[in-house]
Amino acid sequence: MFSLLLRYSIVSVLMTILFLTGCSQDALNQDDMEPGEFIKDEAGENLNSETGEDLALPPVEFEDGTLAESIYQRRSHRNYKERTLDLSEIGYLLWAAGGLSVDGITGPTRVYPSAGGLYPLDFYLVAGEVAGLSAGVYRYNHTEHNLIPVISGDFRDRLAEAALGQGFIADAPASIVLVAYYERTKSRYGERGERYVHLDAGYASQNIYLVATEMGLGTVAVGAFDDTALADVIQTSGDPLMAMPIGEINQ
Ligand SMILES: Cc1cc2nc3c(=O)[nH]c(=O)nc-3n(C[C@H](O)[C@H](O)[C@H](O)COP(=O)(O)O)c2cc1C
Repeated sequence: MFSLLLRYSIVSVLMTILFLTGCSQDALNQDDMEPGEFIKDEAGENLNSETGEDLALPPVEFEDGTLAESIYQRRSHRNYKERTLDLSEIGYLLWAAGGLSVDGITGPTRVYPSAGGLYPLDFYLVAGEVAGLSAGVYRYNHTEHNLIPVISGDFRDRLAEAALGQGFIADAPASIVLVAYYERTKSRYGERGERYVHLDAGYASQNIYLVATEMGLGTVAVGAFDDTALADVIQTSGDPLMAMPIGEINQ
């Protein structure tokens, strides 16, 4: 146990040093290059156009059912069918948002990158019509992959109201709300930590977009809302950053 902890501490320290020195390292490598020098491929040919003309890239091609297809197909959807979601869909979405994965070196990590590995986000579920789940607000617990009940009742109308009356939120069977705890990241990085929290949220929310696309479900990132009203609806002490209604797409 002690050696595991020691290994984890050493890896964490090394990762932090690499993270903090990363920018100056890039600058060093660039400085090493002579002006006008081209990057060569294995055959010694220039990859850059010597004539200074624009260089055409190979066309993008991908198979159906790949990640690239989900990236291509992703859209914001605001019109949902009256269809109940099931727990496996909710579980998959929440896992993709902020669940656990394993990197094999440091042990358990999360599915999205986070500055300093600090993970300053929580994921709340505002459930209305989810089979096997009473209407209510829940918090996703990534370590156990379960839902912690916060308050029971159907809060979808109040969520839509807090989001400046964006009615499609009330129509969706459920919404995921990303909540930030800025101090977790700012305590290490100061004011710059605020930027990192927003970047973290971007990665997590794109994961939700992409797995929703993969499952044939629709979502949209909603950033327009009254902060205090939304925090009140889901009863959080953190700062809500984004609400993402989820439902089957109504074309
Ligand atoms: C930070 C952020 C906040 C957004 N807020 C809202 C919102 O409050 N309401 C809404 O309907 N769409 C919102 N959107 C979705 C954008 O309108 C949408 O992503 C954009 O029009 C591009 O369309 P696409 O997502 O289909 O590619 C938001 C998107 C982002 C990234």
